[in-house]
This record gives sequence, structure tokens and C-alpha cells, in this order.
Amino acid sequence: METVSANFDAAYWQARYATGRDGWDAHTITPPLRTYFDQLDVAAQPRILIPGAGRAYEAEYLHQLDFRQVLVADIAPEALDALATRVPDFPRQHLLLADFFSLSNAPAYDLIVEQTFFCALNPALRPAYAQQCAHLLRPGGTLMGLLFDTDFGAVQEPPFGGSREEYRAYFAPYFEFRHFETSTNSLKPRQGRELFICLKRHSN
Ligand SMILES: C[S@@+](CC[C@H](N)C(=O)[O-])C[C@H]1O[C@@H](n2cnc3c(N)ncnc32)[C@H](O)[C@@H]1O
Repeated sequence: METVSANFDAAYWQARYATGRDGWDAHTITPPLRTYFDQLDVAAQPRILIPGAGRAYEAEYLHQLDFRQVLVADIAPEALDALATRVPDFPRQHLLLADFFSLSNAPAYDLIVEQTFFCALNPALRPAYAQQCAHLLRPGGTLMGLLFDTDFGAVQEPPFGGSREEYRAYFAPYFEFRHFETSTNSLKPRQGRELFICLKRHSN
């Protein structure tokens, strides 16, 4: 992949939302995440982070299932406003207008949910993404979600693609791989092009 020089900041993402260049937006929860959330134990009330959450249909779905420790983080206010409008009783203090890389791990999370955030970052930040996920999770905590296993070519702005072999190297220092395979129930345009991942943070 060509080196990408830009950092995609809040103004960049806000402009993409404002001009409707938001082709990543599924307008609903995606089947792989829904299937995973449906088997989570709501009684345990896990502390869940959705970084780069965008309009955060996952947070809405989890809220409907009575998960009450769901936090979403995004640098674009429009994304968080959309969730607040759709779900007026979603706790305002769980809407974090913040850079993922500056989030605190106090208290640590049980679960981090990934969907089209990793591919939105400058690829040079991928090792730091894996490290920050590990930092934010408690020992034994889970990073789950979807990663594009697709070559989008020599693009200069998101989404940036990649391969499972490349990704493995970023996560291996911090995580045990429970699942790292092509997703079987992706949205149609993403079928065969994304991995479903479930990684457990090492205990040390
Ligand atoms: C491609 S969109 C994906 C949104 C959402 N995950 C989805 O699937 O619809 C990437 C999102 O990440 C946000 N973002 C980009 N860099 C970020 C950062 N460093 N910290 C937090 N959010 C970020 C953008 O504002 C945007 O909402």
C-alpha cells in the first residue's frame, strides 16, 4: 500500500457526514454484530466501548437489549448527535466526543466493538490501534467485530483495506485469537470481504 500522509481529523469526518459521503453507514445493526450481541449475558452488564461508532446502531441495539454500560466514542459531533436524537434516553455521559487514542482505561472495558473504524484510520496507526485496544480492555477482555479482508487499491482516503495476515501481526502481541475468519453473515456488499474477529486480551 502507498504511504498515506494525511491524518483524518474531526473536521474531515464532520465534512464527510455533512456532505453525505458516508457509504459505510449500514443504517441498521449488521447481522454479525447482532448475532454476537444476542448471546451476551445482559445480567453481567459488561462495560462496552464502541470506538469510531459513527451513528452507532450497535449502541442503540444494545440499549434496547438493556445493556446499560455502553459507551460510544467518536470525534465527529454529528455522529453522536444522531444517536442522541434516535435514542433520547441513551445516557449523555456515555457519548464521548473524543479521540480514541486519548481515551482512558479507568475503569477498563470488558468488550470493545469494531466495525469500519480500523479501516477509517491512517494505516500507519494500526499498530497503535491494537495497542490502545489492549490498554483499554481489562485482562481477559474481548475485542470483537469486523475487519475488511479486502484490497481497496492505492487509495488516499478511507476506507483502507488490508489482509488477515497483515492484521494478525498487529494483534498477536496483546491478544489470544479466539476467532479470526471470514464472516459468514455479512451484509451483502461485504460478503466474503470481511473477517469476523473475537480476540481475548492476554492476562499479563
Ligand atoms: C467509517 S466511519 C464508521 C462509523 C461506524 N463504525 C459505522 O460502522 O457506521 C469512521 C468513524 O470513526 C470516527 N473517527 C475517526 N477517527 C477517530 C478517532 N481518532 N477517534 C474517534 N473516532 C474517530 C469518524 O468520525 C467516523 O464516525
